[in-house]
Amino acid sequence: MYTDQVMDHFRNPRNMGKLEDYSAVGKVGQVVCGDVMWVYIKVEPDDEGKDIISDISWETYGCAAAVATSSMVSEMARGKTLEEAIRITNQDVAEGLGGLPPVKMHCSALAADALNEAIYTYLTEHGREIPAVLEQRHARVAKHMEKLEERYGALLKSQGASGEESTASS
Ligand code: FES
Repeated sequence: MYTDQVMDHFRNPRNMGKLEDYSAVGKVGQVVCGDVMWVYIKVEPDDEGKDIISDISWETYGCAAAVATSSMVSEMARGKTLEEAIRITNQDVAEGLGGLPPVKMHCSALAADALNEAIYTYLTEHGREIPAVLEQRHARVAKHMEKLEERYGALLKSQGASGEESTASS
C-alpha cells in the first residue's frame, strides 16, 4: 500500500519533536480523521539577508502517511527562503514520497498546510505583507479548524510539544 519512501520516513522520521527556539508554529487538523499536526520553524537571515527556514521540526498525531509527510515536508522546507517554502504543495510532498494511495492523499494536505500556517504566523507576527496565495490557504485552513474544534475541541486546546496529544503515532 505504501511506497518504500513512505515507510522509510515513517520508520525513521526526520526532524521530529519540538524546536526549543522556534520563530513560529503552524497547527492544522484533518476533519476527515481528527488527526493533528504542528510544524515549528526557525527563521533567520541568510548571507544575503533573505529570510530562510534555518531549522524546522514537527509533531503529529496521525497515521503513517501523516507522519511520513510531516517528515518529508520538513526535509523539503529546511534551508528554503520563505517564498520558496510557500510554494511547496501537498502534491510536491506526496510526489517526494513516491506517491500516496488515493485514500491517503488527504493526509498529505496536513503537512503542507501546517508549514504554510507556520509561515503565515511568522509573517503576521512580524507585521509583514502576506502573499495572496498564503492568505487564501490560511482562510481555507481556518474554516477547517473551526469545524475541527467543534468535533475535537479538547485535543486542539493542546499546544503540541509536551502533551501526549502531539506525539507522533501510527
Ligand atoms: S488518516 Fe488522518 S492524517 Fe492520515
